Amino acid sequence: MLSYVTGKMAVSMVESGEDAFRKIFKFYKRRVPPPDFSDVIDFSSGVPSEQVVAAKLHPAAVSDVDAARVGLQPVRDWRAFSLQGHPGFVFISNPFLRSSQPYWVRQCLKTYTQKPNICNLDMHMSPSDTRDIWDKSVHGLRRPPGGQRDPKTLLERLRWVTLGYHYNWDTKTYSADSCSPFPADLHLLSSHVTAVCGFPGFISEAGILNFYRSDSSLGIHVDESELDHTRPLLSFSFGQSAVFLLGGACRRDPPTAMYMHSGDMMVMSGQSRLLYHAVPRILPPPEGHAAPETDGGPAASPQDGSVVEAVSEEDRAACCRYLRTSRVNVTVRQVLGPGQSLPETPSSQRRTDAGPAAGYHDGAADSGRRRRRRRSGNGDAVET
Ligand code: OGA
Ligand code: MN
Repeated sequence: MLSYVTGKMAVSMVESGEDAFRKIFKFYKRRVPPPDFSDVIDFSSGVPSEQVVAAKLHPAAVSDVDAARVGLQPVRDWRAFSLQGHPGFVFISNPFLRSSQPYWVRQCLKTYTQKPNICNLDMHMSPSDTRDIWDKSVHGLRRPPGGQRDPKTLLERLRWVTLGYHYNWDTKTYSADSCSPFPADLHLLSSHVTAVCGFPGFISEAGILNFYRSDSSLGIHVDESELDHTRPLLSFSFGQSAVFLLGGACRRDPPTAMYMHSGDMMVMSGQSRLLYHAVPRILPPPEGHAAPETDGGPAASPQDGSVVEAVSEEDRAACCRYLRTSRVNVTVRQVLGPGQSLPETPSSQRRTDAGPAAGYHDGAADSGRRRRRRRSGNGDAVET
């Protein structure tokens, strides 16, 4: 008998030998009837379950001034948790200063979507069509609700963007010759958060931004393409809330369900670095949770050396409009350990030997079709 099965799920999970993770994934993904969410840990409300313990942080690793420069509260005010049975997993309940989230959201939507970063739209559109996604979308985003028959903006069709070493979804590898500069502000934020979690010297080498609409999900997977698994994996979320499932080292191990709200962070390190995980469901933020749109008000006066700049009212309004129905998740990864290096892409796997101008469109459209089919099979990228 499956001792982990709760009363609410027992009916659907009686057969032993079934894939418990898949069952629970489907349970939370289900629309009709809606699932019972009462087992989902909510770190934003006190100490939510006996499985949850306070995380051990290293507050001296980042001064209050350095934290504020990347838009974070003083570390002593962070509410950080670990889960019994998952050493190395740290959940930090929205440690951002109230005024700083709009900056990070704008970076995700307006700055990190720019070339030379790569996104799903590049797989079937020409480089000129996917340049300046924000500028091309912002007008459409400001339409009043109800204009669903209008064509979707590029931003609404965006599913992923890769930064630094660009993750290749087909081969599940990184390669030495597919790399753009990693954003300096996001590296600074990541290095501070990882240092507080006991990992000084973190190098942000690859980033994946996932863009979720209300009906999107992310399939069950492990992030193992990085060469050095002793370095942590970092995750930031903005906008709509999500149910996140953290499983075990085996695909069948039953997962723990938790909410990720806007501003929440996760660090997966040590024994938790290679755990299975998934996002079965996107949800509106709970009552009383200020969405980033109402958050903040005027930005605090920026300090010297701050990377967090004021966001224009216009940009802020467009970000809010997008996030009313969307979630953005950013994962930051160190790919290489000391002395390690990546191979070049084998010539047989290069997109085109003639360069991106000639032939890009057709070849990419083809690989886009392959990608969609395969992904719905093993579900390692956002699906709608
Ligand atoms: C990922 C991932 C989780 C999330 O991008 O690998 O697991 O919360 N994202 O979106
Ligand atoms: Mn992942």
